[in-house]
Amino acid sequence: MTVTFDPSDIRACVFDAYGTLLDFASAVAAEKAVLGDKADALNALWRTKQLEYTWLRALMQRHADFRRVTGEALDYSLEALGIEDTGLRGRLLAAYDRLAPYPEVPATLETLAAHGMRLAILSNGTPEMLEAGVASAGLGGWLEAVLSVEEVGVFKPAPEVYMLATRRLGLAAREIAFLSSNAWDAHGAASFGFVSIRVNRGGAPRERLPGELAAEIRTLAELPALLGKGT
Ligand code: 2OP
Repeated sequence: MTVTFDPSDIRACVFDAYGTLLDFASAVAAEKAVLGDKADALNALWRTKQLEYTWLRALMQRHADFRRVTGEALDYSLEALGIEDTGLRGRLLAAYDRLAPYPEVPATLETLAAHGMRLAILSNGTPEMLEAGVASAGLGGWLEAVLSVEEVGVFKPAPEVYMLATRRLGLAAREIAFLSSNAWDAHGAASFGFVSIRVNRGGAPRERLPGELAAEIRTLAELPALLGKGT
């Protein structure tokens, strides 16, 4: 079930960062030789625990920034998987500041910008993490704003987070297309009022959550055509 929208109403595209523009799996992939058959399990558990900690801290009203939460989730995951390599922790956390963009991202941002679409990031990441990640991925030239939840001190999907984008861009929620591969984030954005589009790279089932999505795409390469902004 999705809601209809008029692509001509969309003035800006706001993107989630980790999992949507930046591939967090690329951090663990760089240590595949060390991790061997534990690499996939570590990547999955690290991400799950990282997000769990953000949601629980938001509910407990005990905020800590994404750098700390990411490190603590990694510590849990390394212990849970019995991985003892002192240098590994530092290398994995450093790799989080230089994640690879998904292959289709640069061309998609270029096409949208060329058609006059305003582009921004809205992420759980700290300003420093996002600045490093955007620079490393070479995406900065297309982005008008890089927004961090640190401005409001609570993680997604708290509505205050999504309000950062409407305020900074000076647009109504219905003028903003929000893109996330994190289904819970896409629903949080839809619940706030964005035209929310889920990037469902793995073909996962639809979530039973509030907030009606406007569309679902498999990769961001489909986005320009969906918005009538090139192919
Ligand atoms: C982000 O906020 C949810 O990790 C995702 O970038």
